[in-house]
Amino acid sequence: MKVGVLVSGSGTNLQALLDAETRGELAPGAIDVVISNRPGVKALERAAAAGKRHVVVDHKHYTDRAAFEDALLAQLAGIDVIVLAGFMRVLTHHFVNRFPLRIVNTHPSLLPAFPGVDAPAQAIAYGVKVSGVTVHFVDTSLDGGPIIAQVPVPVEPGDDAAALHHRIQREEHRLLPQVVQRLAARRLSCEGRHVVERAE
Ligand code: GAR
Repeated sequence: MKVGVLVSGSGTNLQALLDAETRGELAPGAIDVVISNRPGVKALERAAAAGKRHVVVDHKHYTDRAAFEDALLAQLAGIDVIVLAGFMRVLTHHFVNRFPLRIVNTHPSLLPAFPGVDAPAQAIAYGVKVSGVTVHFVDTSLDGGPIIAQVPVPVEPGDDAAALHHRIQREEHRLLPQVVQRLAARRLSCEGRHVVERAE
C-alpha cells in the first residue's frame, strides 16, 4: 500500500513514520512520496535523507484551491493512503472525495476541543487540565472527521503552549505510525461517525 505524506513544516511526525517504516512497523504501508506546500522546510530534508521522493506544491503559486489540489492530486497518482502530518492547508471536497476513508490527519488536541491552528495554545488559554492527540479521518470539515484514536496528555502546572505541545508530540509520534499501519492493512472502516477496527 503506497502512502503519501503531506507536510508543511518541521516534519517530526514524518520522521516518526519514516522510522517506523525502517523498523518494519508500517507494513503493508510504504511511504512513496512526501509533498510540502512550503519550500525549504525541514520535513523535505528528512524525506531526502530517507531517500524518499519529495516535491513542493506551493499553494502560493495557484490562483485557487481547486488548481492547488489538482497539482497535489497529480503528484499522488497511484497512492493508496494519505497522511496529513502537520499539513496546514484545508482540503476541499474536490480533493477529499477522491480518497474516501483513505486520508488521516493528526491533531494536537482531544477533538472536538480546539480544532484549527495553535491547538496547544488554545488548550492553555482555556485552562483545561487534560489535552492530548487525535488521529482522525479527514472529511471536508475543519478537524471534524471520524475519530480513529486519541491519547490524553495531562496539562502540568506552569505549562506553556510549547511545553504542552512537546509532550503531546511524544504521544503523537507513537500513535500516528500505529494508525497508518492499521489503515494500510485495511483494518479500519466507518459506521457513521464510529470507526470500527477489524482484529488482525
Ligand atoms: C503536529 O503536532 C500536528 O499535530 C500539528 O502540527 C504539528 C506538526 O509538527 N497539526 C495541526 O495542528 C493540524 N491542525 P511536525 O511538522 O513536526 O510533524
